[in-house]
Amino acid sequence: MSLALLQALDRSDPLAAKRQAFHIPVGLVYLDGNSLGPLPVTVREHLEHVLLQQWGTDLIRSWNTHGWVDLPLRVGAKIARLIGAESDEVIAADSTSVNLFKVLLAALKLRPGRRVIVSDIDNFPTDLYIAQGIAELLGGYELRFVKKDQLEDALDEQTAVLMLTEVDYRTGYLYDMARLTQLAHQKGALTVWDLAHSAGALPVHLNRHGVDFAVGCGYKYLNGGPGAPAFVFVARRHQSVTTPFLSGWMGHKAPFAFVPEYLPAEDIRRLTVGTPSVLSMSALEAALEVFEGVDMEQVRQKSLQLTDLFIELMEPLAARYGLERVTPTDHARRGSQVSYRHPEGYAVMQALINQGVIGDFRAPDIMRFGFTPLYLRFTDVWEAVERLRQVLQKELWREPRFSQRAKVT
Ligand SMILES: Cc1ncc(COP(=O)(O)O)c(C=O)c1O
Repeated sequence: MSLALLQALDRSDPLAAKRQAFHIPVGLVYLDGNSLGPLPVTVREHLEHVLLQQWGTDLIRSWNTHGWVDLPLRVGAKIARLIGAESDEVIAADSTSVNLFKVLLAALKLRPGRRVIVSDIDNFPTDLYIAQGIAELLGGYELRFVKKDQLEDALDEQTAVLMLTEVDYRTGYLYDMARLTQLAHQKGALTVWDLAHSAGALPVHLNRHGVDFAVGCGYKYLNGGPGAPAFVFVARRHQSVTTPFLSGWMGHKAPFAFVPEYLPAEDIRRLTVGTPSVLSMSALEAALEVFEGVDMEQVRQKSLQLTDLFIELMEPLAARYGLERVTPTDHARRGSQVSYRHPEGYAVMQALINQGVIGDFRAPDIMRFGFTPLYLRFTDVWEAVERLRQVLQKELWREPRFSQRAKVT
């Protein structure tokens, strides 16, 4: 693999022009779009308008004139296209954790008599914590959190819900959503999928696979900005029977009727609770414009090329410096990130960031590299590996400042 070949790949890349849609600091190789997407150019322009014209000048009239009130639906519809859902099955709201609370509780109520929640013990902690909170609230539930290879055996006639994250946040392992959803359904259970690391990263087919509920983040591959609103999906067949236990006024059938009795909206709006965060939601709406006309199959193809390339270039470095790859090589089981274990992973990552290649670290010892085809070039992958080589060869990571843990890793 030569640099000249990678330059040629960049020139013929059908997604190459998309890079212009983002602010990427010069000289930086950004491999953390799986944690916080970069700033899309459209967001800056649109937010200026929202701030100065919509908020600054038009003030409260903007709820109607600028359609603030329908932002959650509009944004949800844009996300729906990326995750294989219909536009009336997705709504933007709250955080992933809060949305998980809503749909997990609603799903459990749809399976009365069953008392088991099955999940992966290595699932993202917030997913496990939310399930623990709900089990505490309801009482009498078993949390069956098991390793990946025991998941299928953990499903039985007592299982109410199978709750999984499609792409493992540490290892990048990609679950077989079709198979697991089918297995859960065969046992009579419902499924809740967390798409934090798949929405905008790879094609997702919620309806094709018969998924019941899903949630996901707006600030990772969707580039909606720090703390962007999350989204929630409820399959149309479940919407009228999904109880909105967080029964706030925005999910009411007629919020501006101001009646004392709660009556849920008949559609996906029942999953909303309170006033939407208009500024963040506007940023996410503008960010999603980047995906217009983008074929997610093409994104996937480039993502696999980028991660294949990274794995290949890293092979000699990994062998020489004791980095253990934990991401599968099998395309069918790989998300859009590549991770390595290393006992000094934190310090190595900090030293690498200091060299202008941003990835991140997940305890206890995982270095994560996210690959985002809309703005990464093949030559960026080469550059990242070259700079990591310097860090390892010269042992730059040994500088004491690189071992000092920051609050956010
Ligand atoms: C799989 C997964 N779920 C949820 C979250 C975060 O949820 P929230 O947006 O509520 O902070 C993350 C954050 O990295 C995640 O990786």
